[in-house]
Amino acid sequence: MIRVEGLTKDYGSRRAIDDLTFHTEPGEIVGFLGPNGAGKTTTMRILCGFMPPTAGKAEIAGFDVVEQSLEVRRRVGYMPETVPLYPDMTVFDYLKFMADLRHLANAEERVDEVLEKVSMLERADGYVGNLSKGMRQRVGLAQALLHEPEVLILDEPTIGLDPVQIIEVRNLIRDLGREHTVLLSTHILSEAQQVCNRVLIINKGKIVAEDTPERLQARLTGSLRIALKVGGEPEGLETLLAGVPGVARVLPGVEGSLEFETIPGQDPRPQVARVLIGASYDLLEMRPISLSLEDIFLQLTRDEPAPPETSDAEDESEEDVEVA
Ligand SMILES: Nc1ncnc2c1ncn2[C@@H]1O[C@H](COP(=O)(O)OP(=O)(O)OP(=O)(O)O)[C@@H](O)[C@H]1O
Ligand SMILES: [Mg+2]
Repeated sequence: MIRVEGLTKDYGSRRAIDDLTFHTEPGEIVGFLGPNGAGKTTTMRILCGFMPPTAGKAEIAGFDVVEQSLEVRRRVGYMPETVPLYPDMTVFDYLKFMADLRHLANAEERVDEVLEKVSMLERADGYVGNLSKGMRQRVGLAQALLHEPEVLILDEPTIGLDPVQIIEVRNLIRDLGREHTVLLSTHILSEAQQVCNRVLIINKGKIVAEDTPERLQARLTGSLRIALKVGGEPEGLETLLAGVPGVARVLPGVEGSLEFETIPGQDPRPQVARVLIGASYDLLEMRPISLSLEDIFLQLTRDEPAPPETSDAEDESEEDVEVA
């Protein structure tokens, strides 16, 4: 459905994306996850045929995005980061205008259908300029659906929405995923986890990981992260901990607690307890914590390579964390 090979884009001397290769299966929802400036929008714009790559190749439904951009545009629905809308038009008129641009037969029927799909029928006669941000996003999505594209490319579809709208839009995307191939970009890791079948993590223009959200997490199991609460003088505690065999690294925790990661396959908790008590610390708490996709993401997008980390999948955080 989407096939990308060696895709590279330079803006002047700045390389925005560097030799990207990936593909999506029909009916798959693929998440494009990466920090600001990673190259998500650049890739998406190339895929929609808006600009040519510097090198490499991309196909949508078998059509080359450069050589056959007209065919590509017929098959892609694109929701850009900021949806360009005309404030003085009604929602209906705006969508009708977009449908006419695409020379759709039964434009009015089609507009009603997409309005229903994004639950905006009752606002059809309202002015675009009076819509809330979330409603505008939905009109943007409606616009992307007008021509029944095989492939949907959604650039941060939930950005700026309130929690209720986020859930609605995510559900909508999941529904759309049944009939369309969806590529969506996001900073929100739990969003990728909840919505996508597969995640591509992109950093500085390169794909640094590609897997199902579950497997990305499982890949890094084998070591543990432990939160530690200790009474007594914290001075020297880090050094003491770091010296215990099996402890890979020590990190600051919240509110005076500490966290440490273990060397994969080892569980140094008993030694840690003995060492602490031997040094007259009061051991108040020692608790394994799970590594979320957030931690994995931070690891993968860190500058220097880091030792593998883990998840014990015990207290999975459902929180949305933005890594921007
Ligand atoms: N039109 C442009 N001219 C020059 N440089 C650009 C242009 N558009 C993007 N860039 C650069 O290319 C890189 C990738 O940008 P891109 O917008 O693709 O990132 P992104 O992953 O979408 O980021 P964000 O999460 O902030 O939306 C950045 O370094 C950016 O500064
Ligand atoms: Mg972007």
